Amino acid sequence: MRFSILLICGRPSAHRCVSVIKIMSTEVLLKHWPEIRRVVERGQFSSLYCSIASVGEDGTPTVTPIGTVFLGSEPSGFFFDRYTSDLGKNIDANGRICLLAVNSGKFFWLKSFLLGQFRSPPGVRLYGTAGPLREATPSELGQIESRVRSTKWLKGNRLIWSSFTHVRDLEFTSFRPVSYPAMMEHLWQ
Ligand SMILES: Cc1cc2nc3c(=O)[nH]c(=O)nc-3n(C[C@H](O)[C@H](O)[C@H](O)COP(=O)(O)O)c2cc1C
Repeated sequence: MRFSILLICGRPSAHRCVSVIKIMSTEVLLKHWPEIRRVVERGQFSSLYCSIASVGEDGTPTVTPIGTVFLGSEPSGFFFDRYTSDLGKNIDANGRICLLAVNSGKFFWLKSFLLGQFRSPPGVRLYGTAGPLREATPSELGQIESRVRSTKWLKGNRLIWSSFTHVRDLEFTSFRPVSYPAMMEHLWQ
């Protein structure tokens, strides 16, 4: 991808190059969105969370685990914000975020090492913005309910998830695969 961006850019000024990269990134993001969505779902399922990076008003970076990211058919989604502290404050001051999802399933890694190849991308980073806190819609509440239904009879389910009522919207504009130099040349074509 970088190679093709360089070919298009030639050796122009840095400013022009950045704008070309942005256009390319959005196009490439749209092309790969169904795959990206699957990678985030597998990452969240295997690790129990995605990492969302944000930056404080004084420039301090932080990373927050969030287990309730839901992505849609477009490069957007939402997450339930109930317990965040710095993440919420940072987003309210500066909505720019980076979301990281990594497939940490033991079986996935064992199979990949046996085959000498990742059959699906091991991880992805999504760049974009998160919006203000808003009340979740009935459909969004339905999505969290069905995700945690299997543990409904456990005490922790009620303690943690019964108060999830508010969400923040996510909009993505670009992405970067998580890459290892080997075992994944065939991916992200
Ligand atoms: C696996 C995992 C998943 C989590 N998912 C959520 C979530 O979906 N929503 C939420 O509000 N807090 C969630 N939390 C709690 C926040 O990550 C936690 O309160 C964190 O300390 C907030 O950090 P911050 O100060 O960077 O915002 C989760 C925590 C863990 C360990």
